[in-house]
Amino acid sequence: MENFDWKNLSFGYVKTDYNIRCYYRDGKWGELEIHTEEDITMSMAATCLHYGQEAFEGLKAFRGKDGDIRIFRPQENAKRMVSSAEYIEMAPLPEEKFVEAIKKVVKLNERFLPPYGTGASMYIRPVLIGTGARVGVHPADEYLFCVFVTPVGPYYKNGFKPIDVIVDRGHDRAAPHGTGHIKVGGNYAASLKSQSWAKKQGYSIVLYLDSAEKKYIDECGTSNFFAIKGNTYITPASHSILHSITNLSVMDIARGMGMEVECHKVAFSELDSFDECGACGTAAVVTPISKIVDPINGKEYIFSDSETPGRVTEKLYNRLRAIQLGEEEDKFNWIVTV
Ligand code: PLP
Ligand code: COI
Repeated sequence: MENFDWKNLSFGYVKTDYNIRCYYRDGKWGELEIHTEEDITMSMAATCLHYGQEAFEGLKAFRGKDGDIRIFRPQENAKRMVSSAEYIEMAPLPEEKFVEAIKKVVKLNERFLPPYGTGASMYIRPVLIGTGARVGVHPADEYLFCVFVTPVGPYYKNGFKPIDVIVDRGHDRAAPHGTGHIKVGGNYAASLKSQSWAKKQGYSIVLYLDSAEKKYIDECGTSNFFAIKGNTYITPASHSILHSITNLSVMDIARGMGMEVECHKVAFSELDSFDECGACGTAAVVTPISKIVDPINGKEYIFSDSETPGRVTEKLYNRLRAIQLGEEEDKFNWIVTV
C-alpha cells in the first residue's frame, strides 16, 4: 500500500479487506466463506458470551527477502487449536481446513502484508467460538471459526530491547489443573488485572509463578519464559503454561547452535544462577529481559542494562528472524509459502 507507514506500526488492529469464516451446524463443518464485514451476528445466548467457549490462535506471515509470502508453522497452530477446542468441549476444526483458511486470508489481504525490511509483519488471528444458544451450562451445538489478519509492528514499543518484568504473587493466571496449557480467552481475562498492575508500576510484563506453591516459574502473560545458563537453554515445564510454538522453534535453533536444551520445573530461587533471561512468543518473538523484580521483598534480579540484549538471546532472535524472513535456509521445514 502506498504511503503506509510500515516502520511505525504498533501491535494494534488495522481493518483489512477480507476475513474467512466457517460454520459448524448440524454436527458438521461447512465450507470456508470469504467475508468483507468485520461484524459477527449471533444469539445473545451464545455460549462464548456466557460460559467462555472461546479459543484463539496467533501466528504471523512475512514478506521474505525473495518476495515470497512465508507463514510460520501454521500446522502447529492448527493442532493447538484442536486441543484447545477439545478441552473446553467445542467442535474442533479439522487441521487441513485451518491451514487452508490461513493461506486464503493472507493471500486475499496481500496488500496489507508489510514489505521486507520494515520490521513489521502480518499477524493472523484465528478465533473459534460457541455460537449455539444455551442457558444451562452445556457446550453449544453450533460454532463459528473465523480468521482475520492485521499488519503489526513490535509488541513492545522499543522493539528488540530488554524489558523489565515483575512477579505477580497476588493474582493467578491459571489454576494448577486448569486451562493454562490451552489458548482460551479466559486465561487472558484472568491476566488483565495483573497486567494493568504491572504497567502502572512501569513494568512491561508479569511473570507468573506456579499457582499452587509460588515456588516455580510458569510463564509471562503473553509469552513463555526461558533462561540461558552457560551453554544451556532452560525453559519451564508445567501443566499451566501454554506450549509456545516459538519456544519449540527456539529450542531447535539452540540445539542447532550446539547448545544443551532443558525443559523441566524451574525454581524461582534459580534465577540468581542464570546469565540471561527472555520471553518468547509469536507477538513477543524473542524478547530479552533486563530485570525481574519480586515485590514481596523488593529483590531485583538483573541480567543486563535496558539497552543491551544478552549475547545468546540476540543470536537466537537473529536466527529465528532470518528463517522467518527467508534470509536463512529453512532447514526445519517450518515455513509454508503462499
Ligand atoms: N504463552 C502465552 C500465555 C501466550 O499468550 C503466548 C502467545 O501466543 C505464548 C506463550 C507464546 O506462544 P506462541 O509462541 O505459540 O505464540
Ligand atoms: C501471540 O503471541 O500470538 C499472542 O497470542 C499473545 C497476545 C497478543 C495475546
